[in-house]
Amino acid sequence: MTFGRIELHPVLGKLPDAPLIEVVFDGQRLFGLEGESIAATLLANGIRKLRVQEESDNPRGIYCNIGHCMECRVSVDGFSGIRACMTPVKEGMTISSGIKLPLPFRHTPPSERSGGA
Ligand code: FES
Repeated sequence: MTFGRIELHPVLGKLPDAPLIEVVFDGQRLFGLEGESIAATLLANGIRKLRVQEESDNPRGIYCNIGHCMECRVSVDGFSGIRACMTPVKEGMTISSGIKLPLPFRHTPPSERSGGA
């Protein structure tokens, strides 16, 4: 069983055989393939929302998938700020949606902003 994965890619070929492992994401049991990223496991299980944006509460998910943008931050076994796209999934992991970090700057209403050009 490969869930939502592409089993036979026209360029990359056949999906390599890998043992199934079980993880928990936000209390939901999921199955992944040993050696793939957390992001790949979540995507294969239909999960697109990994956290919310700090100011707008807009849902965020995988963007660059190469470790640069930090959009895919989740918590893993109690450690926050883990990049789902760069972290291999492991049997028994408890993964949760990324925590909402504090904003680095206080929101200043327009009426309090200094004038500028
Ligand atoms: S998706 Fe950009 S760092 Fe993970």
